[in-house]
Amino acid sequence: MQQVTRILLLLIISVVYAGCGNGEERETEATRDEAPELTEFELEHGIGPVTERLDIGDLDVERARRGADIFDRRCTACHRMDRRFVGPPVGDVTEVRSHEFIINFILNPEEMTNRHPVGQELLQDYMTIMPYQNVSKEQAIEIVDFLRYYAETGEDLRD
Ligand code: HEC
Repeated sequence: MQQVTRILLLLIISVVYAGCGNGEERETEATRDEAPELTEFELEHGIGPVTERLDIGDLDVERARRGADIFDRRCTACHRMDRRFVGPPVGDVTEVRSHEFIINFILNPEEMTNRHPVGQELLQDYMTIMPYQNVSKEQAIEIVDFLRYYAETGEDLRD
């Protein structure tokens, strides 16, 4: 019984201790949220793992087919090509946003929604934060090709 009390006490102490330690971190985060300063690159191409222009080359149909498969499994729950659904239509997104922006959105949707003006505006409209879909950068590029193919030909490679 005594030992249980001691373990409990230790637990309480470590929780309190951990709480104090985080104070400083939390403050920094709060300050950043109040003044979200984005670089020129981030404004144009999004916030995330892609931090410089990315030359993904010409549209590659094989890559687009792989993208169609991933899109079908990870994105159709919320996106349609030509109409709003849980999220915005994405059939013409490659015409409106840069490849880097789209890839950052796919790989880092929460920060894109919370800190980027485009994401913040979309959130106001759609009232949902897109969750990260566990997609790799390679797969995000494949999805971009699938969307490019649709925007250029009007053909949906999932059909
Ligand atoms: C649970 C629903 C959900 C899923 C699943 C989802 N999204 Fe989203 N997506 C959203 C919502 C809601 C928004 C807009 C609000 C926001 O910014 O989070 C959005 C925004 C986007 C945008 C930005 C559009 C623009 O106009 O800039 C892109 C691109 C996008 N999603 C692509 C994808 C891709 C690709 C997948 C699959 C890997 C995916 N989404 C999966 C809900 C979802």
